[in-house]
Amino acid sequence: MAASLLYVTNCLRLSPFRAVSKLRSVSVLGVHTTARHMQASQEDFEKAQNDLKTLKKDPGNEVKLKLYAFFKQATQGACNVPKPGMLDFVNKAKWDAWNSLKDLPKEKARQSYIELVSSLISAELPVKDPTSTSANKKYETLEVFSQDNITKIFLNRPEKKNAITLQMYEEIGLALDEAAKDDSVITVLTGHGDYYCSGNDLNNFTNIPPEGKEKMASDSALILESFVGKFIDFPKPLIAVVNGPAVGISVTILGLFDVVYATDRATFHTPFSQLGQSPEGCSSYTFPRIMGLSKASEVLLFNKKLTAHEACQLGLVTEVFPDSTFQKEVWERLNSYSSLPKNSLAFSKQLTRAPEKEKLHAVNREECERLKERWLSEECMNAIISFFQKRVKL
Ligand code: COA
Repeated sequence: MAASLLYVTNCLRLSPFRAVSKLRSVSVLGVHTTARHMQASQEDFEKAQNDLKTLKKDPGNEVKLKLYAFFKQATQGACNVPKPGMLDFVNKAKWDAWNSLKDLPKEKARQSYIELVSSLISAELPVKDPTSTSANKKYETLEVFSQDNITKIFLNRPEKKNAITLQMYEEIGLALDEAAKDDSVITVLTGHGDYYCSGNDLNNFTNIPPEGKEKMASDSALILESFVGKFIDFPKPLIAVVNGPAVGISVTILGLFDVVYATDRATFHTPFSQLGQSPEGCSSYTFPRIMGLSKASEVLLFNKKLTAHEACQLGLVTEVFPDSTFQKEVWERLNSYSSLPKNSLAFSKQLTRAPEKEKLHAVNREECERLKERWLSEECMNAIISFFQKRVKL
């Protein structure tokens, strides 16, 4: 027990500056009190502490503060020690995290600690399905397999924040084609690592073919139109499990999904004008319909980054879950949906989408046509050069 606390405390080497910024985000911890908070035994609690020591990757200061807070609450109850001084950044961040749990009962804190550790451990496990076929090895940028009537498509370039390369566009299209025909009831798109997806891989613009940049732009427009078309035509329920921040095209196509579940750590950002570009993924049509014209304009024109809760209020996201229990709750939910009758679900989805299909294809074509022009513009080229040269973050 002491060792585990030591682990958490030792990991919490926040620099004073970062401690202050992290502090804001943990002032109220995402404590989720559901019926599943059943009695966790002392044995489970001790096992979680041991499991925590086996983590290979540093889970980050925010998570470590949560672990610390749940641990203290579970072992000592509500925070009852004096608040550290303003300049004692690290101890103040820890105190704030613990104090934000207020009167959370010890048992619930213990359960939350166990769930958080379990989600960290499972995030590190290689996702392998014993029933996956050798055919799935053809994907280099994705991990795709079917399990419990669900076809799961994982974006698998975590070291590049799952930025979508040209190869990945094609592989996602292929995976959707296969999922449309397989025996699964629902299909899920999600990401490996801490990001859901950082959008179009900006290197796609730097590989100019010998025929020139016009060829690059027209080829890219064809790839994009075909990619988005697959989402428009997808015949079964399509779910996005947004496991972290989402940028660009990974956000714009969300309007073509049937359900979008997001961790409370996710953000939604479409920085098109910053990049000299214009919306795609049918968002110029779906976003105003989903969130109203003026809210959509803030997002699509003025690069407004939405938090998960904002995106949920605006209707882009179906439901937001605390990060600590996100994976567990979402997959449990989806496992129950995937036991529903397959054909009934598919026909119901097709009926809800049919009236819009033709319109969506027309919007898709128009957006790609505009982008073909944008990608050749000086505004766009300058923005991309800035990203790679000056390392501008969006
Ligand atoms: N295209 C190309 N490379 C990308 C990328 C993208 N869209 N997003 C991330 N990467 C790469 C980074 O270049 C970096 O590569 P490196 O390790 O070889 O230097 C790696 O992924 C990790 O990203 P990094 O920038 O170090 O992580 P971060 O947490 O500091 O920032 C982002 C993450 C997403 C905010 C930042 O990478 C970014 O702004 N990416 C561009 C997003 C974008 O413009 N998308 C297109 C929208 S239309």
